Parts: sequence; structure tokens; C-alpha cells
Amino acid sequence: MNKLFIKDLDLKSKKVFVRVDYNVPFDDQGNITDDARIRATLPTINYLLDEGARIILASHLGRPGGKVLSEFSLKPVARRLNRLLNKEVKLAADCIGPEVKKQVDAMQPEDVLLLENLRFHKGEQENDPEFAKELASLCDVMVQDAFGNCHRTHASMVGMNGMVSQSAAGFLLKREIDYFEKAVNVPSRPVVAVVGGAKVIDKIKIIENLVKKVDKIIIGGAMAFPFLAVHGYGVGKATVDENVTAKVLMINKLAKERGVKIYLPVDFVIADKFSGKADVTMETKLVTFQEIPDNWFALDIGPASTKLFTEAMQNAKTIIWNGPMGAFEIDAFSRGTYAMVESVVSAYALTIVGGGDTDLAFHRMGESYKVSFISTGGGAFLELLEGKELPGIAALTDNPGAE
Ligand code: 3PG
Repeated sequence: MNKLFIKDLDLKSKKVFVRVDYNVPFDDQGNITDDARIRATLPTINYLLDEGARIILASHLGRPGGKVLSEFSLKPVARRLNRLLNKEVKLAADCIGPEVKKQVDAMQPEDVLLLENLRFHKGEQENDPEFAKELASLCDVMVQDAFGNCHRTHASMVGMNGMVSQSAAGFLLKREIDYFEKAVNVPSRPVVAVVGGAKVIDKIKIIENLVKKVDKIIIGGAMAFPFLAVHGYGVGKATVDENVTAKVLMINKLAKERGVKIYLPVDFVIADKFSGKADVTMETKLVTFQEIPDNWFALDIGPASTKLFTEAMQNAKTIIWNGPMGAFEIDAFSRGTYAMVESVVSAYALTIVGGGDTDLAFHRMGESYKVSFISTGGGAFLELLEGKELPGIAALTDNPGAE
């Protein structure tokens, strides 16, 4: 990485602004249901504590649209941090303003203060220079650890970087970048990419990029339909966009030139409705890929596909997975995705998983600890897979000493 790293900074007694991504999920009662993103920042916070820094944590939560809405307060996050660090973490009433400044100025080394939701101010998402200036005025240096938000050009991600003397990557961010490098840029081969999910327009961009880098691509979920359609197979009630078809043809051509193997499902679980609520009355059956009836939905891959995909992964040294194999949020269509979880964790390979739905499948199976790395990023991970430069990383201070 040609950017400054937290270890390059002189941190003793310094006021350090740490941008984190505590955009975590909650249940109806307001309880945090998955604190992985909070836990993932502990190495950075603990390092700063050891260095005797004054730690100012800043995050967004949800999309309150520039309004102060109590349901988007970071209060529950502060409580969880208290528990995880076994240390008092105060929550500021706001993220900018004279009161916050006063609170920051009164901080002692090893104090931890969490600022209130950055998105309570419009200036955050608008990357307003005045708002960025206010944030920058709170600190001496900045550490970026909000990988999950690095695809956003917001004030605390990009705008304030030029207004502080140094901005460096934290441990979480470096780990994300290092694993991505190992998986995509300098991987142990063969590399197998598994791409699924429903957002075909977005996922096709990932396949477009990965076909230039990996050795095999396994395609499941709705993403498989345009690939089957170009061979003239029916895809039931799924619709295939013309632009996507054009891209599929280009991807197939490139795959042939590069010797990249593309694996598609050979059987599907189909249903006459696409609704979890209609489960009781819904008729489901298993068909081969040549037999998807026009008025039915293909909602999961079948056992023959799982077997094929598992065999394709057998000699992999690196596996990258994004996107479920079917509508796995509905029990009847979850088997294909869960079977793939089993295959991926049993593979003798570096395994990297990213994207909200995919890591949820591993968590539900209780298998997340068997994966080499689960990214904390949803959209940010996808944009890396698409081959894009992330603005939150590009904005960090260059490290002239890096190779
Ligand atoms: C995420 O959860 O993907 C990030 O925190 C970004 O959130 P956003 O999609 O609301 O910008």
C-alpha cells in the first residue's frame, strides 16, 4: 500500500480522529444484531490506547438525511464499545460545534469519545468543506478505518483529509486491502470467483473485471440467467436486459481467449410464486436447466449444480465469493447457498467472502470462523471487485517510502 499506515504516525498524546463504519444492523427492539463491524475496529482502538492517544471515533448510522433522528443515534454503539473495551466510552451530543470542541479539548490520553452520527448533518454526505473543516478542527491527525464506507465521497471520508496534517489507514482498512490484494491482484492460483445474487446490473460489472483476473467463475443466483439465455435456454419468469446480454457475450469471448472456465447451474429449484409468505401454497420442484417452465421462477440451484460447483472448486488455491446462489432468505430456496457455504469452508484454499447477504449465510450456518477473511464492506467490497479505486483510500496521505 502506498499510503500512510497508522504505525507511521506519531500518536503520543495526539487527538486522533478515527473514521469508523458502525453502520450496524438492529432488530425491532433496537438491539444490535451483528457487531462484527464494531469488533473489527478494536485492533486500531487498542493500538491507539497503547500509544497514549486521545481517541475521537466518528461514524454514520443509517440514512437520516441530515436530520437528527433518535432511531439513528449511536447510543447503543457507545454502550457496546464500553463493553468490548471494558472502558468508558462517552457519546458526544453532536459531531461538531463548540460543545463538542470543548469536550475534545478536555480529553486526556487514552480517553475514548464517540461523536454522534455524522449524517445528522447534511454536510457529511454533501462533502461540504465547511463541515469537513469543523471535523478537522477537532484533531491533530486522522486514521481511516471505515472500509465499508470507502466508496462514498463524504466529508469525513475525503473532504477533511486535506485539512489535517496526516491521514493514515487503520488496521481494519489495511487488512481489507491486504486480503483483497492476495485474492485478486497477486493470488495463489487457480483462483475461483463465485458470483451470485439478484442485482444483475451491478454484478455483471464484477464478472467483467474478474474475467481478466481469475481462472474459473462460478455463477449462481439471478446472475446465471443472462448467461443461460445467450445459449437459447428459457429462464422462466426472469427478465434479461439487452445491455446485460451484450456484456455476457463480451465476457464469454474474453473467457475463451483467456482460457477462463465459466460454470453455470445445471439444475434449479423452481416455484410458481416468488414469495416467502406464499410458502404453504407454493408449488416447488426440481428441474434441469433445460426445463425451466415459462411461468415459473427458478429460485435456487439444485444438488447437481452444487456438486458441479464443489468439484470446480476442488483444486482452487484462492476462492472469492460474493452473492447467494438463490433466494436464500426464503427457507425453501436456501439449500443451494448453504451447501456452497459447506463446500467453500471445506476447500483447501484462501477463502474471501464479501457482501452483506453472503456473510449472513456463513453466520447463519455458524461457519464464519472457518473462512480466511470476511470483508466488513458491502458496496465498498463490490466496487473493489469491479476494479474501481475507492475515494476513501485514494484520499489518504501518500507514503513516499512505500514500494
Ligand atoms: C454500508 O453499510 O454499506 C456502508 O456503511 C455505507 O452505507 P450507505 O450505503 O448508507 O452509504
